[in-house]
Amino acid sequence: RSSDLKSGSQYRALSPFVNEKTPSFYVVPSKGIFKDFSSGKGGDSLTFVMEMEGLQYLDAIRYLAKKYNITIEETQTQNPEWKQESTTKESLFILLNFAKEHFNNNLSQTDEGKSVGLSYFYERGFTDEIIKKFDLGYAMSGWDTLDKLMLKNQFEPSIIEKSGLLVINEGENKKYDRFRNRVMFPIHNISGKTIAFGARILTNDKNQPKYINSPETEVYHKSQIVYGIFQAKNAIRNQDLCYMVEGYTDVISMNKAGIENVVATSGTAITSEQIRLIKRFTNNITLLYDADKAGIGASIRGIDLILEEGMDVRVVLFPENEDPDSFAKKNDAISFKKYLTTYVQDFISFKAKTKLAESNNDPFKKVDVIHDVLGSISKISDVMKRNVLLQVSAQVLDVKEEWLHNELKLVIIKNAKKAASEQQASLAQIETQLLPDENGYLPELPYEDLPENTSEIEDNIFIIKLLEAEFIRIIIATCFDGNKKYYASFLDDIVDIEDIPFREPRHIQMLDTLKKSFAENTIPNKSYFDSLSDATIIQYVAETITTRYTLSPHWKERQWGMFEKENDDNAKQALYEVRLKLRVEYLKQKIAEQAILLKKSINPDEEKEILEKFMFFHSHLREILKDKGETILNGYLPN
Ligand code: UTP
Ligand code: MN
Repeated sequence: RSSDLKSGSQYRALSPFVNEKTPSFYVVPSKGIFKDFSSGKGGDSLTFVMEMEGLQYLDAIRYLAKKYNITIEETQTQNPEWKQESTTKESLFILLNFAKEHFNNNLSQTDEGKSVGLSYFYERGFTDEIIKKFDLGYAMSGWDTLDKLMLKNQFEPSIIEKSGLLVINEGENKKYDRFRNRVMFPIHNISGKTIAFGARILTNDKNQPKYINSPETEVYHKSQIVYGIFQAKNAIRNQDLCYMVEGYTDVISMNKAGIENVVATSGTAITSEQIRLIKRFTNNITLLYDADKAGIGASIRGIDLILEEGMDVRVVLFPENEDPDSFAKKNDAISFKKYLTTYVQDFISFKAKTKLAESNNDPFKKVDVIHDVLGSISKISDVMKRNVLLQVSAQVLDVKEEWLHNELKLVIIKNAKKAASEQQASLAQIETQLLPDENGYLPELPYEDLPENTSEIEDNIFIIKLLEAEFIRIIIATCFDGNKKYYASFLDDIVDIEDIPFREPRHIQMLDTLKKSFAENTIPNKSYFDSLSDATIIQYVAETITTRYTLSPHWKERQWGMFEKENDDNAKQALYEVRLKLRVEYLKQKIAEQAILLKKSINPDEEKEILEKFMFFHSHLREILKDKGETILNGYLPN
């Protein structure tokens, strides 16, 4: 791009993830990494492809391999079942692509296709450009045109059978093309492969369904895909918004009006898989409804799922009897866009209004509506958003806001209790990880009940986690830089702090991984992590080498000013300092814990025990600090 700049060993450009005017996207070719300061994303080339294309780790590798004509050997295919499955899928993709090209060809090259299919699309106002973008096609009217063609091209009967392209009547041993005499809408997966078809009838035959769709196959799971996502994904990311409509024609008409960030659920209730697919590109969904649709009630139910995923949901209602398709026909692109921005409303008030209207002023029904709306609000984890929505709902429902607040509290407590009982087992596990009792008797702390000093403990844990991350970062960054000087002793550094339990599960996992690699005498560099083929680890490593931890203002007030060095020339010294600081922070935390316990204690025996521990940690800390001449205990001692 014209805005691309080279600055030193880095390239700078406009972020591909957000709309911006000042370039904040950096690429460091020598390290093979990127950092986007606008979106906070960063990582290596693989992470980049995962982000841009919305792919999972393995699929990103396959994508790159294909792009650069590299053959990849997938060792897991040694598992015969797995190999079978993946080759079946590959074959299905090839066959479905073949069928798609056949339908494209029918539309543009055959007399029947041109006179029936293409003229229909033109009548609907679809341009050649739109037809190409959505890969539209036509299925011939013969009973076995495609069947014959597939056999002629030597596709395996078992694959043909699995593709859903034929209707196979086992009993009578009859088979015929599923799609005949219809215009074809290919359904693409997120990377653009054809996985299924929707097909619209061209006549007014009331005995035939208007649309027929591919059945579920090994590559087509209706609940996991939305129509148009491949064509829409870049626009969704750039606009940071996804419009959701009902069907194929709505998606296409909106594209004609210049609105490209739009997908369709194809008439079914939205699923959490579909939401997560969209969430890869944006946090905002706007649903477009036809005002008079009987189905609104049903589709509303799915929306709590979207709220639960932490996404913001809005609604635009079209005038009665209009869908986006018909509305686009009657309005030009400018007024269409204007309508969308003028009539957008948040989902909660939409829901409240709709339900309230349905309740016909019946007070008992109104109570149900209130609970229903509060149920939706309780799915939102952001407190500010919740408060704003409560305010709006109170107005719409005509009840006191304060009352809604109290009711919501009850709902949230109820939800939390339910979730807590489900999570209890795993929580208990984490807690023992976090607080191992060094001396065999340290009680677990009831954090919620701490009367004071809790803020100091939390602050302290935050710093401990930063230090953990920094410890890992220094090691990885040094190994990535190929700086051989320190490899041998990194294991010693790790062993040295083994008595301090790491707090963050990800850090624990990383430390284990590093330790293992050093123990095996391998250097944890890029190829080592790649060889682990563990997406979580690779993601973490990518983040860690592109992230500088920013410290809270609190830290800056402390005497030990951290992370001032901009390079890790002296990795060994940096590690030593981090280790020391980790130990100090750990001891400080233990001391603070004892101090709080001491204040609460009313049992003299217990008090004595706490005091002993307090003295133990305290003297240990003092010993460390003696060397450094620091006295940073102030504020942690009990008054
Ligand atoms: P419509 O009935 O409006 O379809 O349904 P249409 O093709 O736009 O027909 P006309 O020209 O208005 O009469 C809107 C969407 O609902 C889905 C399709 O995705 C369609 O684009 N639909 C409709 C089905 O999946 N199956 C159906 O039987 C009908
Ligand atoms: Mn329509």
